[in-house]
Amino acid sequence: MAEVRIAHTADLDAATLAAARALLAAVFRGDFSDHDWEHSLGGVHALAWEDGELVGHASVIQRRLLHGGRALRAGYVEGVGVSEHRRGRGHGAALMAPLERVIRAAYDVGGLGATEAAAQFYAARGWRRWEGPTSALTPAGIVRTEEEDGGIYVLPVAVVLELSGALVCDWRDGDVW
Ligand SMILES: CC(C)(COP(=O)(O)OP(=O)(O)OC[C@H]1O[C@@H](n2cnc3c(N)ncnc32)[C@H](O)[C@@H]1OP(=O)(O)O)[C@@H](O)C(=O)NCCC(=O)NCCS
Repeated sequence: MAEVRIAHTADLDAATLAAARALLAAVFRGDFSDHDWEHSLGGVHALAWEDGELVGHASVIQRRLLHGGRALRAGYVEGVGVSEHRRGRGHGAALMAPLERVIRAAYDVGGLGATEAAAQFYAARGWRRWEGPTSALTPAGIVRTEEEDGGIYVLPVAVVLELSGALVCDWRDGDVW
């Protein structure tokens, strides 16, 4: 039996958070840093369970994206992963749907940095590839993030987005996007 549960970080116990982190470390084959995990916290998590085992995770946290002269309140999706042997059964979709509902109801825009392998997964769900230049608002000012260009996806909600325009994310340690 598969089940998706939604909870804020504050309402997840230490064992569940540890299981989610271990799952993501396995999904990303060890390429999942302390910062990556920290970026997944402080918002709403979707957790997929199968027969008492955690098989999928995704979360949405708040950050600011600067675009068109505005600092948009963005629901930013982090830590999306389904156990390798449980893929293709609808878990990824079941994780994203409630987070997209949160984004549509509470934010100006959705955002995420997609892996190449997952880009089509998001595009099929209505996420749009950002075509313009990306940058980060660093302590030293706005710095271009060319290496991220083409890998950022947005979920339009209430704001008109010019996808070929500039998009700037707020600052954080680790990967900024
Ligand atoms: C991306 C991922 C979360 C998808 O999870 P999943 O449980 O396999 O996805 P689902 O079974 O819900 O698939 C939903 C739909 O997306 C499609 N889909 C799933 N993964 C896809 C992919 N990588 N590329 C294109 N389409 C994909 C499915 O075919 C399905 O289409 P359908 O509705 O027409 O049948 C999973 O493949 C994963 O964990 N990948 C490794 C980690 C990763 O890259 N995470 C994303 C970080 S940005």
